[in-house]
Amino acid sequence: MVEESVPNMRHYGRQLFICNHGDCAPAEEAERLHRLALARNRQQGLNKLRNPHRIKCTLADCLGVCQGGPIAVVYPDGTWYHGVDEAGLERIYREHLIGGKPVEALIFHRHFPEGEEPAYAPDVRGDEALDPVAWGPLREEAEPETDREAVEREEEAAAQQRRMAARRARKKKGLVIVNTGEGKGKTTAALGILTRAWGRRMKVGVVQFLKHENARFGEIRAAERMGEIDWISSGDGWTWTSSDMDETAARARHTWTVCQERIVNGGYDVLILDEFTYLLHYGWLDGNEVLAWLEANKPPMMHLVITGRYAPRNLVDFADLVTEMRPIKHPFAEQGIRAQAGIEF
Ligand code: FES
Repeated sequence: MVEESVPNMRHYGRQLFICNHGDCAPAEEAERLHRLALARNRQQGLNKLRNPHRIKCTLADCLGVCQGGPIAVVYPDGTWYHGVDEAGLERIYREHLIGGKPVEALIFHRHFPEGEEPAYAPDVRGDEALDPVAWGPLREEAEPETDREAVEREEEAAAQQRRMAARRARKKKGLVIVNTGEGKGKTTAALGILTRAWGRRMKVGVVQFLKHENARFGEIRAAERMGEIDWISSGDGWTWTSSDMDETAARARHTWTVCQERIVNGGYDVLILDEFTYLLHYGWLDGNEVLAWLEANKPPMMHLVITGRYAPRNLVDFADLVTEMRPIKHPFAEQGIRAQAGIEF
């Protein structure tokens, strides 16, 4: 009984991955190379299940390079090829996959130092190829696929379609981004995103929860000069020594109601909720209610950037991207240098 359930490994000599993620080269180009590889496999008898030198050709999601493609990787050698066109693929097949000698002209990265690649299993075992076929031009009438190969190819194409659909769906998601931590730069990083989006003519806005509505910080001045940036500040200048915390909390809660209206009706592509985490941390708002409201009401394509220390666990879990700023050195702590215009405010 136990033996029957033990997985049975299918033998391959090598595996060839071709990236069709679409950023390093058009996905259609990778798919055409994949078809050529499968045809070359069939013509050379490298598709046969009983052939210990069998080569598995696989379309792969991003291989982590994303430029100079099509990118192809030979496993287990750990050889990374770029700029693989039809002629290049033929060389990789003939010289590397069959001949055992990598195509230097197309290599841009070796995972293992030359000569230290993992052993080629068929060599170690002393396997012979089944009826080796002489290399020749790729024929249209190359041996047709077996039923099993056709099933494998269809399964792989279906899996690839699922990956592509998931990728397309993910691409269209508006992100919830959290910049938290004790270090400086949380708001500055958020404003960097805002500037990028503004540069791409996206509709952007900032809601500052705790900074004073009359503050004239450099970023507010910049926004005025750039134009087309909605800036809402209705804090009371809260600090650690705020004289009236009830007033501070009430203003912050009121700003959240303004913010909710903007999220639903503002038509923003990017909206920054600056210092919003404090409202959750100090319990001025119920975190679960806030997140449930965002889940139900945030437009799917709107990117929301939330800043502030003490991001609560449920917000971190809810977010798509969380960055923690960590202080290493500070000019005031080390040298007594106070905040300077243009740098800190
Ligand atoms: S998109 Fe091909 S390597 Fe990343």
